[in-house]
Amino acid sequence: MPEPTEVRSMFARIAGTYDGLNKTLSMGIDRRWRRAVIARAGELKGKRVVDLCCGTGDLSLLFAEQGALVIGADFTHEMVKLAPGKHAAKDPAMPAMFVQGDAQFLPLPDDSMDVATVAFGIRNVESTERCLMEMRRVLRPGGKAMILEFPPPSRGPAGQAFRLYFNQILPRIGGLVSGDKEAYRYLPRSVLAWPKPKVFAEKMRTAGFEDVGFKPMTAGIACLHWGTKPLGR
Ligand SMILES: C[S@@+](CC[C@H](N)C(=O)[O-])C[C@H]1O[C@@H](n2cnc3c(N)ncnc32)[C@H](O)[C@@H]1O
Repeated sequence: MPEPTEVRSMFARIAGTYDGLNKTLSMGIDRRWRRAVIARAGELKGKRVVDLCCGTGDLSLLFAEQGALVIGADFTHEMVKLAPGKHAAKDPAMPAMFVQGDAQFLPLPDDSMDVATVAFGIRNVESTERCLMEMRRVLRPGGKAMILEFPPPSRGPAGQAFRLYFNQILPRIGGLVSGDKEAYRYLPRSVLAWPKPKVFAEKMRTAGFEDVGFKPMTAGIACLHWGTKPLGR
């Protein structure tokens, strides 16, 4: 796992090409994965949502479109500074604001959010446990944590095909388009080092979430995790 400063400078370097490459490399499926978070979140109108590691704000945008009041936070200025313009281009009145902030130390009060979410970001955070604890802290009792991640590919044929794509093809295309080979070599490495869904679900329970569950998507390429902050804590 690289140092946080290296992670930040890597995302700073690829910020300009991040959105386009995301769509190309996932063949547009990334949008479907983010939509699955919204579908699972329930009624969102007027709900307070914090989107951690929000990057250029794609998941924040989907929440705001549902009428949620969104705070997006990311520790890479070059990524998060692109989010407000994207939101304004859709609708200048979109109820979202963006801050530069670390997912392990959020500038938010205890029990203040209805939903805390991270899409493809927690894998990059120095301490997964610290990030989960911080999500639980800022959620109100009964509030929901929703996390999208790439689990390590399975040993089956679909997993093998994905491994090949992830290890060989994706770094080449990503490196070529972004001009940053290292960033797109880091992506498969970080996914292979990430825990399997069952193990991550256990981490969520250990961090104090209940009703923990997960749903693998697209032959297990991505996985949506969820959990609830218990009432009375
Ligand atoms: C793969 S991008 C995901 C961005 C966005 N959520 C999406 O779905 O496109 C990961 C993001 O995590 C951010 N990040 C990594 N570690 C972080 C931390 N400790 N605190 C806040 N953001 C962090 C990076 O700056 C980067 O923008």
